Amino acid sequence: MELLTTGNSAKLYCLNWLEARLKASTTPLTILDLGAGTAGNFVTLLRRYPTTHYTGVEPSAAACAEARQRLTGLDAAIINAYAYDSVRAKLPFPQYDFVVSFSVLEHVYRRLDYLRLIRACLKPGGYALVNYDSGHFQHPDLKERIKTLVGPLLARVGNEAYYQSFVREADFRRMAAQAGLSIVEAKSFNTHLKGVYKHIPEGQRADFMERWLALEEWLNTSAGIDYTDDQAAHWFTRNFILQGKN
Ligand SMILES: C[S@@+](CC[C@H](N)C(=O)[O-])C[C@H]1O[C@@H](n2cnc3c(N)ncnc32)[C@H](O)[C@@H]1O
Repeated sequence: MELLTTGNSAKLYCLNWLEARLKASTTPLTILDLGAGTAGNFVTLLRRYPTTHYTGVEPSAAACAEARQRLTGLDAAIINAYAYDSVRAKLPFPQYDFVVSFSVLEHVYRRLDYLRLIRACLKPGGYALVNYDSGHFQHPDLKERIKTLVGPLLARVGNEAYYQSFVREADFRRMAAQAGLSIVEAKSFNTHLKGVYKHIPEGQRADFMERWLALEEWLNTSAGIDYTDDQAAHWFTRNFILQGKN
């Protein structure tokens, strides 16, 4: 069967995790995607489970237009906004079964407020899947260096489009707790195999993705590695599953 995404083991892990729950559910479920981009991660999943509702929140108007086009015919809404408290009034549902945010937190200026929104939008018993990337801050080329320097300055005047800063483990855990979220699972994905993916011939890519994800899942569960920030040079993505604290 077609993979839900390619080229990113963290996103494939999360989409597989979501698919298992959509498949097992006897009632339609709802997904809120914060920093949805063009919603490309969700097209295959939503086509496979068309009773699922998807809301994407995205500050780029151009990305929203593309997302709306890609999701034509599906039960989806795209809201053009930053993902802070003010967006709640615009959402079709007050709370969701799943709140996801892939590769966004490193761009977010007000991170505690962002995590508070995730908590507020979770149904009781719902799950949040949040991942963020370190790659931009490890070996940045000139363009990424400039974006990282300029990002926080532009954010102060309302443009949060660029990278802000590396998300430190202790900061994430402290902010998640402050936002009322408890960590159910913490994993790391996207080793340097992410770079190898680009060189794999088209016909071998699905096989490569499955082997890549299986290896990284083994590294997370059975290899006995305790993550620390200095490993961010080897794992480009940190991936959390969270639930609201009672
Ligand atoms: C690297 S893209 C990831 C897009 C998508 N989640 C994906 O995985 O393909 C990061 C996205 O975060 C969005 N973004 C940045 N700051 C945001 C904020 N405060 N709230 C919501 N989205 C934000 C950007 O506009 C951009 O589309």
